[in-house]
Amino acid sequence: MTGNFDEQRPGAYLGTTQMHAHQPEADALVLFGATGDLAKRKLFPSLYALERHGTLRVPVIGVARSTWTDEDFRMHARDSINTHVDGADATVVDSLEARLDLIQGNYADEATWTCLRDALDRCGSTTAVFYMAIPPSMFPMVAKKLASVGLNTRGRIVVEKPFGRDLASAIELNKTLHAVFPEDHIFRIDHYLGKEAVEDLLVFRFANTMIEPVWNRHYVRSVQVTMSESIGIEGRGNFYEGVGAIRDVLQNHLLQVVALLAMEPPAGPDPGFLQDEKAKVINAMRPIDAGSLVRGQYVGYRDEKGVPENSEVETFAAARLEIDSWRWAGVPWYVRVGKGLAESATEAVVELRSPPRMLFDGAGSPPPERNLIRLRLGKNDGVTFALQAKTPGPDLDSQEVDVDVDFAAALGERQDAYERLLGDALIGSLRRFARQDVVEGTWRVVQPALDEPGPIFPYFRNSWGPSEASSILVNNKDAWYLPSPAR
Ligand code: NDP
Ligand code: BG6
Repeated sequence: MTGNFDEQRPGAYLGTTQMHAHQPEADALVLFGATGDLAKRKLFPSLYALERHGTLRVPVIGVARSTWTDEDFRMHARDSINTHVDGADATVVDSLEARLDLIQGNYADEATWTCLRDALDRCGSTTAVFYMAIPPSMFPMVAKKLASVGLNTRGRIVVEKPFGRDLASAIELNKTLHAVFPEDHIFRIDHYLGKEAVEDLLVFRFANTMIEPVWNRHYVRSVQVTMSESIGIEGRGNFYEGVGAIRDVLQNHLLQVVALLAMEPPAGPDPGFLQDEKAKVINAMRPIDAGSLVRGQYVGYRDEKGVPENSEVETFAAARLEIDSWRWAGVPWYVRVGKGLAESATEAVVELRSPPRMLFDGAGSPPPERNLIRLRLGKNDGVTFALQAKTPGPDLDSQEVDVDVDFAAALGERQDAYERLLGDALIGSLRRFARQDVVEGTWRVVQPALDEPGPIFPYFRNSWGPSEASSILVNNKDAWYLPSPAR
């Protein structure tokens, strides 16, 4: 990478920020946290998928504290795949198993690291992927320990979320990691960037000539982005109490989606250009203050295991973002995230301005509804254009008709986000990972909301959050759009 860091201003880049599209392909995958929940639910099923597609070509070395044998570890991987993959092919599982070994040891012990270096020496590895599926408090320690045995020069690291818990800690973590790995060897995971439908935003916006002319403040009235989950915190009270909805998903997944929707076209295919545009648009965002934020907590959250009875942690957040750029000045961007909501959906609704009334102001005839572009980014991904068509009859009345594309039906099977990201890390492609300045920029946007979060409003499960969420809509006649119903 050719960008330089300004040590005095962590997070600031000097000069151009091109990143090499590809680094050398990895020759080993080291899985820290191989016995943990993420590995079980996401990483082994993804490794299975890579194996099935013939794109896993390296040994996989797990490292964890549990006193498991290699055989226990392989059984664990097998169970995880059989639990999470429908109709897993036994021969594929066998070939994946043949790649797996476990190094048992505490990360605090020197012996764990020499053992790991010896194992990598034995397989002749010079370019490993070190995947940190471990508690975030351990990221700095593991990075330093890798350096203590010289492994920082023999590979790249994949860092799980959350990347810090506020701006200061994210800057600190970046400094710690940069002491050991250069920026282009740090792959920060945001699994939303691995979702096909999220990446499609680039294609939707920049490969369709009809979109760009209207994608600005002259034609767009507002944008709403919703990430709703019907599930609650699913027994993860201890974890969730330390984060809340703003840190858990708004700062990362949601703002990454907003960046893709709002940024200028990148200057070229180099991943650095994409990151540059994201950084610019995030920098143009005003930080979220108390007046543009509503937080909620579902009724029953305080009864969850690990949650204190006076918890003020939000399970819902709605915010109005302002992007002070020539493209977006004056257009409100509404975002909301929450658990325990009526439906699970991730959707962006782009509301276009009303057409002039002219033809349509006959007595009793309502004006045409505004056009909407709904970008569905969740399970039922696709796009719907809500257009106006003439209502049959003598009058010039209009009604909404949908022009809809369901991506699964139109495009067929797509890979899971984790499979794509693991595959990217192995081939050394940074395109779908988050760069330092972008991550720090997103923390800057949410920092006032973390510092002064304001009151918390209760809401019932299966609702759309607290009614107070409407108070941040600029025009009080406006409402939140309901995401498209699940299909
Ligand atoms: P878990 O607590 O389930 O797993 C932690 C892993 O780290 C275990 O394998 C554990 O080994 C290992 N570990 C912890 N301390 C040590 C130590 N001192 N020495 C050696 N090994 C150690 O965490 P998760 O899998 O849930 O999360 C891992 C990361 O992924 C976190 O950063 C999390 O934020 C992120 N993440 C998790 C998601 C999820 O759904 N779980 C979703 C998105 C991100 P052992 O059990 O053998 O002690
Ligand atoms: C994770 C959050 O990053 O994303 C979880 O920690 C959330 O709380 C999950 O449930 C949602 O991911 P997806 O892919 O199911 O929308």
